[in-house]
Amino acid sequence: MLPARLLAFVFVVAALCCPSYGQRANYDEAKVPEFHLPDPLVLPEGGRVASAREWEEKGRPATLKLIEREMYGRMPVGKPAGFKVVLDRETSDALGGKAVRREYLVSFAEDKGPRVRMLLYLPKGAKGPVPAFLGLNFRGNQCLEKDPWITPELGYVVGSRKGEDRRARAEAMRGSAAGRWPVEMILEQGFALATACCGNIDPDFHDGWKNGVHPLFTEGEPAPDEWGTVSAWAWGLSRLLDALDGIKEVNAEEVAVIGHSRLGKTSLWAGATDPRFKVVISNNSGCGGAALSKRAYGETVGRINRSFPHWFNGNFKKYNEKEEALPFDQHQLIALIAPRAVYVASATEDRWADPTGEFLSVLHAQPVYDLYQKKSLGVIESPAPGQSVGTVTGYHLRAGKHDVTPEDWKHYLAFVKRNLQKAGK
Ligand code: GCU
Repeated sequence: MLPARLLAFVFVVAALCCPSYGQRANYDEAKVPEFHLPDPLVLPEGGRVASAREWEEKGRPATLKLIEREMYGRMPVGKPAGFKVVLDRETSDALGGKAVRREYLVSFAEDKGPRVRMLLYLPKGAKGPVPAFLGLNFRGNQCLEKDPWITPELGYVVGSRKGEDRRARAEAMRGSAAGRWPVEMILEQGFALATACCGNIDPDFHDGWKNGVHPLFTEGEPAPDEWGTVSAWAWGLSRLLDALDGIKEVNAEEVAVIGHSRLGKTSLWAGATDPRFKVVISNNSGCGGAALSKRAYGETVGRINRSFPHWFNGNFKKYNEKEEALPFDQHQLIALIAPRAVYVASATEDRWADPTGEFLSVLHAQPVYDLYQKKSLGVIESPAPGQSVGTVTGYHLRAGKHDVTPEDWKHYLAFVKRNLQKAGK
């Protein structure tokens, strides 16, 4: 009896303290609240940006500061003094002899703190440095291929449980994300591919900021405007780009950053904060990524902050159940990438991520792209499933579930080739 009564009590207290507990997510367009989207050209302190130059001098820095302060959090600036990249392993016989495969160890404070194992694939026989895709993975590099050559990830990985045999679990997952990373298809088109496990940079649970890169740069609990885990991952992506910059077979000026879901939120924030990423791709990133928060459709700010309190900063919690009070929305995150190329993809069954809200973010970032005379998406309504739209900004809605598939990659490869000067063959 007692546990049931206790549970009921906890539920009632939770419901009283927090009105959205126990409420179902809204999937009804008619119940999307009326909302006002801030004009991305209006400066937070007043006044309106009228040219690309004004955007760069005033609009972009002010918008970046606002989103950083109220949501993702301030991260350390640039490459740290103790940054180190070491080539650990190499084979020129990967993918049946078609590719060179390497593992690099990347550390941020000499030999202190996490050592990130970056897996790099290079197409064999390429003439000169090649463009690259860079993206984090969830459960370790060994998930990309069945090949036992790849070092299994034994650190913090998404979905790992306390007390389990990490090695057995890592081995069981070998090749499990092969469908999400069509390595051969990417390499055949002339690209390199680099990846590392997100948990290697910062663990994906609320660890009191004790592990990962936080303690290297922040003492104790980060201040309300400082970095959460998404910022830590984005910072890690910039450091992996630093590593690629030192690899002569890779053209670090032609790198597309890509991520799925929470790592799609991360690739957008990395692209917004680091202009060296020439193309930015968000796959099903949803709430806190490409989806407009003010629509409160599917996952909401309150829900994401309660389920994943470590992803965003302390300030972002102010907007739980108060999306209307947000002084910005995610279209302004997309606008921060302008005039560089950005591509957002949704999936029809991924209602939790709000496909319509993801499309609308790209659409409403256009005023900033207009300042650079960059073409618009060419549509004002979400295209039919399977159809890719846009040139510098791009979007597609794939039929199916929350996932990354070769169909998504087909669109990404075409988009990246269009937008990088020397990309691919
Ligand atoms: C959860 C979370 C999403 C996130 C997703 C993922 O569903 O609510 O915000 O995108 O996990 O990263 O897989």
